[in-house]
Amino acid sequence: AKAARGLADDLASTTLIATDKRVLMAPAMNVRMWLHPAVQANVARLATFPGPGVAFVGPDEGDMACGEFGPGRMAEPPAILDAIAAELAGPAARLLAGRRALVTAGPTFEPIDPVRGLTNRSSGKQGYAIAAALARRGAEVTLVSGPVALDAPPGVARVWVETALQMQAACQAALPADVAVMTAAVADWRPDQVATGKIKKAPGGPPSLALTENPDILAGLSAAGPRRPGLVVGFAAETEDLIGNARRKLSRKGCDWIVANDVSADVFGADGNAATLITAAGEESWPRQSKTALAGTLADRIARHFTGTPE
Ligand code: C5P
Repeated sequence: AKAARGLADDLASTTLIATDKRVLMAPAMNVRMWLHPAVQANVARLATFPGPGVAFVGPDEGDMACGEFGPGRMAEPPAILDAIAAELAGPAARLLAGRRALVTAGPTFEPIDPVRGLTNRSSGKQGYAIAAALARRGAEVTLVSGPVALDAPPGVARVWVETALQMQAACQAALPADVAVMTAAVADWRPDQVATGKIKKAPGGPPSLALTENPDILAGLSAAGPRRPGLVVGFAAETEDLIGNARRKLSRKGCDWIVANDVSADVFGADGNAATLITAAGEESWPRQSKTALAGTLADRIARHFTGTPE
């Protein structure tokens, strides 16, 4: 509010008014404060300033310190760091400008009848963070998402899907792409038949479900011939022999890289993640970090792959 009106009565606001440099703001406040027309009017006013101008990173949507939920959370520090790097380097930081990226995220939901279904545990957080990190680096991102409770990251085109078959079709429709990052937890099977009405509980006991195998979207994309993305990245959640299993998955799926997650610790729905990147050339361990930071690490690695920086 002070920056928008030129009021300089403390150190921070004086600095903002005394500078002739571009300013990056990472607003953080209660959800209703952020949504208040007075605040939104100030944000809009700042965006109209001529000269070096004011840029924004965030706020994110999520739980507030006060116990409420909504937009107003400070952007994650790695996202702020990315935004600073992008501001300082200008167009050079948009290392993925002109590249098309496809990201899958979240679970799939395979209906049994109108009220029941088979699904996997996946918050979608890691995939959404990757889509956001690729977009911040200038890529044109299509995010094919199963049902999750997350907002689409800024600048990302989200395609909602429910089933594995829909996810596969949406991935095909998103081609051509330079890079595909498949983080979705796709259900391995779907019910053979979907009942049109709710299956009733019967005295004879529970019904048996006949299942059909779902297509492997990652393997299919890796074998897509001329339409194959130049770089295909899969994820592997393992609880034992992380590297061995991930390396076998790399060759079985035909993808270029596997990001291997040790899920024996707390990962599902958590904000932290540790991973090992497995490529034909070798392995890189990435220490436990936030999912946002891990997404930035992977996006930088993808950018390096395309710019030809030695890997
Ligand atoms: O075989 P598994 O499910 O462990 O492999 C995980 C990787 O394969 C992830 O990248 C996941 O998104 C992808 N996958 C897929 N389609 C499937 C199963 C897994 O794209 N049907």
